[in-house]
Amino acid sequence: MGCKAVCFGLSCLLFAYYIYTPIPQNIEERWKVGIFDAIMKIISLTGTLFESIGLMTCEEWFFTIMRLDVTKPISDENVTVLDTAFGDIPVRLYLPKRKSEKQRPAVIFLHGGAFVLGTCKLSAYDSMNRWTANKLGAVVVGADYRLAPQYQFPVSLEDAIFVVKFFFQDDILANYGVDPTRICISGDSSGGVLATKVTELLQNDPEFKNKIKAQALIYPGLQLLDTFMPSHQENKHGPILSRDLAIKLGCLYLTKDKALPQVMRENQHMPRGSRHLFKFVNWSVLLPEKYKKNHVYKEPVLGKLDPPYPILMDSRVSPLITDDSQLQNLPLTYILTCEHDILRDDGIIYVTRLRKVGVQVTHDHIEDGFHGALSLLMSPFHLRLGYRIQNKYISWLEENL
Ligand SMILES: *[C@@H]1O[C@H](CO)[C@@H](O)[C@H](O)[C@H]1NC(C)=O
Ligand SMILES: *[C@@H]1O[C@H](CO)[C@@H](O)[C@H](O)[C@H]1NC(C)=O
Repeated sequence: MGCKAVCFGLSCLLFAYYIYTPIPQNIEERWKVGIFDAIMKIISLTGTLFESIGLMTCEEWFFTIMRLDVTKPISDENVTVLDTAFGDIPVRLYLPKRKSEKQRPAVIFLHGGAFVLGTCKLSAYDSMNRWTANKLGAVVVGADYRLAPQYQFPVSLEDAIFVVKFFFQDDILANYGVDPTRICISGDSSGGVLATKVTELLQNDPEFKNKIKAQALIYPGLQLLDTFMPSHQENKHGPILSRDLAIKLGCLYLTKDKALPQVMRENQHMPRGSRHLFKFVNWSVLLPEKYKKNHVYKEPVLGKLDPPYPILMDSRVSPLITDDSQLQNLPLTYILTCEHDILRDDGIIYVTRLRKVGVQVTHDHIEDGFHGALSLLMSPFHLRLGYRIQNKYISWLEENL
């Protein structure tokens, strides 16, 4: 009886969310996106409920559900797939079976999940990395860096750096037949943040003797300074990624203190003495007119948090506040942004900033795209949009790596 009541309640909720959530008109397969969005909101709501009654934290709940989608390393006729480790970091390798005369290119892929969730073994990432290996004849490395809140900043970044350096060792490259001059670092969402920061730090590190050929960033979130960008305001409720959820999870990367997300929602979280950094994220200057629409720039209020979080001024958390002198050493870059994504403006501003310092950037903007679509590749939820994003990314790699 109790179970029936709960199921009935959840179905009503699902239906209500489905009816009331506005999915942008231009989105393809709207009914599917609507259902997925409603499911996401219910998972989120149940998580909050579980957290408030002390059953488990919201992120543990997300993790429990995500675990259902973890795949085993299954080789197929084209690609050998194996789980191993670089040092202590678990990695999944995709090794093409096709013989190659030349050394192979390689891609190191860093998955998304707000630094809190995810693994490269999720079915969508597994299928994309497999396809990348097959299509490019490339060695692909999926890296499972450690996650927050157990391992907070900068652990995931350090793990990502470790994986890249480990892979660049002569004997490892030789072992997999990889050409050190044809390696790309890729990532989606928070993985995109890691990808670009790893790339930038290594390109500027005199001790690192190699050069990274390219970086590919799929809807990356690149700053925590300003949470009132036009894209934050327009896509507050998703689809899929709401502003509240992004802030809640994103903050766990830095702290468990609930005061931070609370103040960040009001855009009053930055410490005193950080005003000089806003020139790097000032959308009223850096965003093309098309995206400003009729939004009015409002300067964030500083110094409201006690104690303050100086970590918010660290460019390893917000790559957008990196100096031009460091950015200019970035390699060939691919950036994909989606119109209906709170992180849209981060990516677009990064394109502007990189081009200004002479970095060669390919920018794909998906007018009917939204955050996380890449992860919706498996049935019954697979979306044509997910495949389109995957194909754009892989085509760019094919042409440029
Ligand atoms: C193997 O590669 C061929 C050619 O690219 C492709 O048509 C086929 O679907 C691939 N097999 C698998 C299991 O992905
Ligand atoms: C942002 O840019 C506007 C000009 O469009 C300027 O008036 C404002 O002072 C800038 N704010 C900051 C914090 O840099």
